[in-house]
Amino acid sequence: MTKARILVVEDDRTVAEYLRFSLNFMGHTVVAVCGYGEDAVAGAAELCPDLVLMDINLRGKMSGVEAAGKIRESLDLPVVYLTACADDDTMQRAIVTNPFGYVLKPFKEKELRTTVEMALYRHKMERELKERHSFVEAIISNIQSGIIVADPDLRIMLINPYALKYLGNPQDAPIGRRLEEFCASFAAALHEQDQAEEFYCYGCAKEHVIDFNKFAMKGPDGNVICYIISFTDMSEIVKVRKEMQMKERLAAIGEVVAIVAHEMRNPLFGITSVAQILDLELSLSTEQDNLMKSLLTEARKLNTLIQDLLDSSKEIKLSKELLDLNFTITESVNLLEPMAYEKKISIRTDLAEGTKPLLADPGRTKQVLLNLLKNALDATPPAGTIEITTREDEDYMAITIRDSGPGISERSMEKIFDFFYTSKKSGTGLGLAICNRIVTAHGGSLTAGNNPDGGAFFTVTLPRGDAAP
Ligand SMILES: Nc1ncnc2c1ncn2[C@@H]1O[C@H](COP(=O)(O)OP(=O)(O)O)[C@@H](O)[C@H]1O
Ligand SMILES: [Mg+2]
Repeated sequence: MTKARILVVEDDRTVAEYLRFSLNFMGHTVVAVCGYGEDAVAGAAELCPDLVLMDINLRGKMSGVEAAGKIRESLDLPVVYLTACADDDTMQRAIVTNPFGYVLKPFKEKELRTTVEMALYRHKMERELKERHSFVEAIISNIQSGIIVADPDLRIMLINPYALKYLGNPQDAPIGRRLEEFCASFAAALHEQDQAEEFYCYGCAKEHVIDFNKFAMKGPDGNVICYIISFTDMSEIVKVRKEMQMKERLAAIGEVVAIVAHEMRNPLFGITSVAQILDLELSLSTEQDNLMKSLLTEARKLNTLIQDLLDSSKEIKLSKELLDLNFTITESVNLLEPMAYEKKISIRTDLAEGTKPLLADPGRTKQVLLNLLKNALDATPPAGTIEITTREDEDYMAITIRDSGPGISERSMEKIFDFFYTSKKSGTGLGLAICNRIVTAHGGSLTAGNNPDGGAFFTVTLPRGDAAP
């Protein structure tokens, strides 16, 4: 039997004394006897008993029900009512205070013993249940995995903060709403499969890759009561895995490309040289001359491709020197002026004047500018404009090339710096990847974006290096 500390609230002295005697006899301790509701509320707060035995009808201002209500409100204590003959109204009010039992006066010791025992036992069970509930709730709230409990129609019954962060807004009230309102792709997948290792969630608060598991909880009749769905964000792992796969693939391709490109360079140089000599020495008809020009143009293109392939597969070696960036920009623009003229595109420059020299590789810097300008010319429609601006601060020089083309879509934006990504019919997809490698080798950065009034921009940021005064 549980030995408990009990507060007795009874205004009839004889009954109170009898209760004290009986409870002591049962092995319990009566911590105090109060005759008024107010004293009982204060006594309960001060003495923290294990149980309160409360007379339902107290003589004072505060009734037993009121006192019990206050005690239950502020303290988690079980209250057992003592009642002689309570009217219906009092009983209704008493029920609301969620009592742990009633002892009818006049009572027998056996009844008192059983009711007190049962109240103490029920309270212990309820407390344990509450603790277990808080424990489970703490785990579910803090676990770094998404947990959702949903009914058979995938209506949310429970969702932990982690899951809500991925699927919706923390301010959303998700309980009772359908999962598809938050993430249609995830809900559709859950209708079809019980698990997945790499599922791409889209259309929800955060685009992410998850692995998920759906467990169907069934009732005694075998019907599904609810689904317990758990998921983990795999985005970072998948990204790293893909990057590694890509690196491995590039390394393998790189080795082959480097050998092939190297072997092709010398014969191509031979062919081009012979063609140039023949072009100079032979007197060709107009038709033959056109063919010769196209032969030389194609050979030049092939040579650029071989050089690009070598740049993609080898480490970029820089030979830095002091460089007047404005001069390099003007030189690059002049080289592409004929191409711009053909498309009636005007290239405007707004260069910071009196800029200090920069320590960089002149050939590679020009290669970057030519690549970006060529891309801008490809993207810009006839009669459009391209604008080149420079900006300098103490440590960096930034060159921005803006065009009036269609801009870059969100999907392409992720890939434009990848090797071999191209949206052009005859593109190689090497230009931006090489530019990025060259700029990174300088310790700078290459970024892309869309202008608010249309078109794309690319910004090359280069550190001044030791050239800074
Ligand atoms: N100025 C630009 N405007 C719009 N898209 C661009 C621009 N520059 C590059 N891109 C996109 O990036 C892709 C990759 O460019 P790049 O690496 O230079 O290869 P390529 O020019 O051979 O296609 C292009 O195919 C195009 O889709
Ligand atoms: Mg290009």
